[in-house]
Amino acid sequence: MRKFVSFSVAALLIASVVFFTQAQQMSDKAQLGRELFHDPTFKGTLSPTGKKAATGLSCANCHADFDETEKPDGLIRAGHSVIGVPKRGSAKGGMIAGANFARAAGGGGFCYEHFLQRVAPADVNPTAIPEEHAEALMAYFEAITGDKEGPQFKIEMLDNDAKAAAGEKIAAMKGDSKNGWQLFGRACVVCHPTPKKAGIGSQLVRSRPPRNIDTTMTRWATKIRGGGSLMPFYASDILSDQDIADILAFLREQMEATAR
Ligand code: HEC
Ligand code: HEC
Repeated sequence: MRKFVSFSVAALLIASVVFFTQAQQMSDKAQLGRELFHDPTFKGTLSPTGKKAATGLSCANCHADFDETEKPDGLIRAGHSVIGVPKRGSAKGGMIAGANFARAAGGGGFCYEHFLQRVAPADVNPTAIPEEHAEALMAYFEAITGDKEGPQFKIEMLDNDAKAAAGEKIAAMKGDSKNGWQLFGRACVVCHPTPKKAGIGSQLVRSRPPRNIDTTMTRWATKIRGGGSLMPFYASDILSDQDIADILAFLREQMEATAR
């Protein structure tokens, strides 16, 4: 027993030394970036009211700061992991590049204005994020990236016709509502607490069902693939067409049960 205790103490000591040196490796700037990344108030720099009001979302609601394929935590986030951001060199399908890339926190400056402060996409200035904060976020992305590559993906910027076509295709597919319920919990509950309760996202299932459920399903499929004002789009490598069809089957089932 005593041997076991001293072994545990030794293991604990080694673990804390390893932890301590790892923590030490992160610069103050990267540490600030880590805090900004997880904080919906962005260290109190966002206003709770006013024109650019904080939505209460943080970067961490939509992006992992770890490798999701290596260490999945069960959640499905709308954005990709920020591992590898400094190596991408451009963002938003090339719209943010060159010197603007670092100044816009690798594209995070867009999300900062749009998702954290509800600025309409057309009015977003991705380099409006304070320089100190952009630098801190990039320092954090560099610290967690190290020699890793991060997820490989291609952003498809869909125009309205492509969104509508995707919506129609998905709405015509048969879905598995049980799987849809699980996917809804893993992906959507962060903003839609349940289909019947409004959070930052709308209440999806109401006591009175829509007049035409099929039309609603097409509109919703378009919204999930294409995004809305604050509703993020889900790229096809994050939710497949079948995944979205499953979620819609679940929502339809909820609607039909409520209408009864
Ligand atoms: C409501 C969800 C949401 C929030 C909140 C959010 N993002 Fe994003 N972000 C997305 C989506 C969706 C994309 C596009 C898909 C992708 O690139 O992963 C994206 C893209 C990005 C990209 C990459 C752009 C590209 O084209 O390569 C970066 C970097 C990024 N976000 C950082 C941030 C940072 C930093 C914050 C916090 C200030 C943040 N995001 C907040 C959803 C969000
Ligand atoms: C970051 C927050 C956020 C996440 C995550 C999110 N939504 Fe939304 N969603 C919203 C907001 C806000 C709206 C309302 C208006 C808008 O932005 O388009 C909305 C609107 C919608 C609508 C349209 C409702 C209508 O009647 O017009 C549907 C359908 C929807 N969301 C489904 C989903 C599904 C399914 C998921 C998960 C795959 C999801 N949302 C994830 C924030 C979110």
